[in-house]
Amino acid sequence: MENNYYKKVISYFSRKADQYDLVDKQSYWNLSDRLLEKIINKKIVDRFSKSKKLQIMDAGAGTGRWSLILYNLFKRKKVKTQFELIDITPLMLEKAKDKINQKRITTEMKTHLGNIENLSGYKNNFYDIIISFYNVLSFTEKPFKALLEIYKKLKNNGLYACIVSNKYHAYFFDIATNRGSDLEKISDLSSVRFNKKMPYIHCFTPSEI
Ligand SMILES: C[S@@+](CC[C@H](N)C(=O)[O-])C[C@H]1O[C@@H](n2cnc3c(N)ncnc32)[C@H](O)[C@@H]1O
Repeated sequence: MENNYYKKVISYFSRKADQYDLVDKQSYWNLSDRLLEKIINKKIVDRFSKSKKLQIMDAGAGTGRWSLILYNLFKRKKVKTQFELIDITPLMLEKAKDKINQKRITTEMKTHLGNIENLSGYKNNFYDIIISFYNVLSFTEKPFKALLEIYKKLKNNGLYACIVSNKYHAYFFDIATNRGSDLEKISDLSSVRFNKKMPYIHCFTPSEI
């Protein structure tokens, strides 16, 4: 049973789950995804392109968008992959499961309901790559607890790639949208939200992360 903080997160993403993959059709996210794919190719795929088989964890996988993209990028390089997709919102994970079933890759990708602040059910020092894309860490209640868990699971030469909310962008957004009402919350608590329906999430400075 999740606490009140996570009940809000789960409720927020449960309402979004059906629409979540429509971001593919929005030009802002399309551009962002294409840029991210280029970075992934350069920083992740190239680095592991000589591997025979990779163990990959998607910590906060949502509907599995990035696991599927990474799977295809490695497949093109003939690198085998084994994915564990973990998420706290059952309805997001259901979407991932549907896509995995449709693509008939149930052997290569497993979904698990869980909180990445506690990864005790997963092997330590085992994963070559762990990803948490698009604000997963920002949505966690205790991001540094999650980071420590993730660190334990990575192999010594493993790679963790995440995308989090940026504190400087949070200031910019608050001012650019003429709100200015959250400036103190951003500076004192590193908390931000981009609309009234979402919970406040943690924003990081680059040096903090
Ligand atoms: C913005 S979505 C990103 C999903 C996916 N990584 C993507 O880029 O499409 C954030 C996801 O983080 C999940 N999440 C938030 N806190 C979590 C936690 N402590 N443990 C596991 N998942 C979490 C949410 O349920 C949601 O699916």
